[in-house]
Amino acid sequence: MLPLILGIESSCDDTSAAVVRGTRLLSNVIAGQSVHKDYGGVVPELASRAHQQNIVPVVSQALQKAGIAVADLSAVAFTNGPGLMGSLLVGVSFAKGLSLATDLPLIAVNHLQGHVLAHFIDDDEALPHPQFPFLCLLVSGGHTQILKVESPLCYHIIGQTIDDAAGEAFDKCAKVMGLPYPGGPVIDQLAAQGNVHRFAFAKPSVPHLDYSFSGLKTSFLYFLRDQQKINPHFIEENLPDLCASLQHTIIQILLHKLQLAVKQTGIKEIAIAGGVSANAGLRNALKTYGIQNGWQTYLPPLRYTTDNAAMIAVTGYFNLLAGHTAGLDTVPLARIS
Ligand code: KG4
Ligand code: ZN
Repeated sequence: MLPLILGIESSCDDTSAAVVRGTRLLSNVIAGQSVHKDYGGVVPELASRAHQQNIVPVVSQALQKAGIAVADLSAVAFTNGPGLMGSLLVGVSFAKGLSLATDLPLIAVNHLQGHVLAHFIDDDEALPHPQFPFLCLLVSGGHTQILKVESPLCYHIIGQTIDDAAGEAFDKCAKVMGLPYPGGPVIDQLAAQGNVHRFAFAKPSVPHLDYSFSGLKTSFLYFLRDQQKINPHFIEENLPDLCASLQHTIIQILLHKLQLAVKQTGIKEIAIAGGVSANAGLRNALKTYGIQNGWQTYLPPLRYTTDNAAMIAVTGYFNLLAGHTAGLDTVPLARIS
């Protein structure tokens, strides 16, 4: 029998618990946090408190949906970073408490590795998995990286943002347009009705496989300010075109470096992961690039793009196979190098 693993994710503003048997998903429960809506971003203090409220019912539900008891589990995997310290502490402390009470081994999981290994979650959809080695464009609210993935637990960062993450660019530009947080999904929806060629925004020139998004954010802000001076209704009158053009620029920036990475490594197995990989424009563009360039592309199902514990549980399974367990003295890390 393959091991049964409980996964716990609490790195940002979603409290999630999942159960897997090997890589087979048995349950995945996610509680979002609406408390941040009024603030235009995640408020760390409120996130920690909401995790405290959610963690016990979310874990109970995950076990119940999987049809198992705590006594059936083989190990407890938890996100130990990167993320918000107060949020991480809730998941880590809960996992330690459970381990102390039950003697279950603990597995510390890197959240970013979790996003990448979301491609190996087996559920009823039975999607094909990327073959090793593959390249993964990891695009989330906090990170933008190109990874060369050699095996489940071995990967190299071959490119990354030198300032803002792609998700941050979506969220910050959405904010200046007066759109709610998180802005990525809202821009994605509005962009579907807009003209991608209506406005042109400057693309960064950063060496190697690295990215930069802070310049785009700033030039977008100044462009809107200038236009609003001429026409105070500029944003509301042009919202779909603004979203479509901005999103198009972000996608072009992302895929340009990915194309370079393919050239440099010769690897044509290409996956995307992280919250921004839910973006319809990015998904379509990647499919088209794949067909044009002979890449084998892998798009995670939408439910595993944003933060979830299924990816943490599966990553826990790979770590358990490798004998990587953690001690009770494990501490969460806000940043992981
Ligand atoms: O991976 P994730 O849930 O959390 C982090 O680890 O950061 O990613 C959240 C980010 C946010 O910036 C959000 O705006 C972005 O993913 N996002 C999207 C879409 N859905 C979520 N960005 C663009 N289009 C989307 N459909
Ligand atoms: Zn994430």
